[in-house]
Amino acid sequence: MPRHLLSLLDLGVEGLPELLDRADQMKRFRGRVDHPRALAGKSIGLIMEKASTRTRISFEVGIYELGGQPVALAGRDLQLGRDEPLADTARVLSRYLHGVVMRTHAHERVETLAAASQVPVINALTDKFHPCQLLADLMTIREHHPKGLAGMRVAWVGDGNNMAHCWIIASALADFELHLACPKGYEPLPEVLAMADKLGRGQRTLTTDVDAVTRGADVVTTDVWASMGQEEEREVRKRAFAGYCVTQARMSHAKSDALFLHCLPAHRGEEVEAAVIDGPRSVVWDEAENRLHAQKALLELLCSSNGRL
Ligand code: CP
Ligand code: NVA
Repeated sequence: MPRHLLSLLDLGVEGLPELLDRADQMKRFRGRVDHPRALAGKSIGLIMEKASTRTRISFEVGIYELGGQPVALAGRDLQLGRDEPLADTARVLSRYLHGVVMRTHAHERVETLAAASQVPVINALTDKFHPCQLLADLMTIREHHPKGLAGMRVAWVGDGNNMAHCWIIASALADFELHLACPKGYEPLPEVLAMADKLGRGQRTLTTDVDAVTRGADVVTTDVWASMGQEEEREVRKRAFAGYCVTQARMSHAKSDALFLHCLPAHRGEEVEAAVIDGPRSVVWDEAENRLHAQKALLELLCSSNGRL
């Protein structure tokens, strides 16, 4: 059992489908009196150093529904904002809490937190990875594509960012084909591609040609052109990403039952046409809902059995 979830690699090839199966069960338990109460008497901290709608709310609600108490902390409200070291913060939080969920900029910050923490740390998005989102994405695909994840063909269109990195790792863990179309200069980190290749599973290709990746795809997915922290690059990126839009025309060349996914928030008219995200192939609202169920399964796995109240 992993101690922390900093990237999907922490779950491993066998742990990932087990967690997704449990997420499916959590979905069925919602609203029932026999809903698991894996966090009864426990408190989970949420440190959010970036904005969030879905992640913060789905974690808070999920912790509450598992019988626990969420303790939401904006980065600036902590002494962290006045230079208390992250490792000292981790040591102190470990004396109060039963788990810490953190959203921040540099991935090294969640690594530092986890290294000094006595309780599980969950990465709720860094500049490098957003593993909780991928759990919901894979769960959503399994719901809509009964043939399962292995062997399917996923098209990633746009930035080689934290979401692309997670798709890369997922393609290896779940053994599917991932075809990425990224503009020159905005490719994923080679070290992340190497991490996936090391697992020797799935297949990954990288091109600048959007039509080549979307043609025949089972799943087409994209993300904003400027991620949080890149606001000042927005105009430069708009020019670099022109043409990297998931259009209806492109979706019409994907498989006839292809799904469209987007982690949200979305910018209609930039990375995706409104007709696609609001159209019949889009599963983005199920995808957003599934954050709740997948994270409950994750919280139960990591935080319920650490042996103390
Ligand atoms: N997809 C996602 O993580 O959304 P938020 O930024 O709203 O949490
Ligand atoms: N790549 C985006 C994802 C938001 C959920 C960002 O990091 O801002």
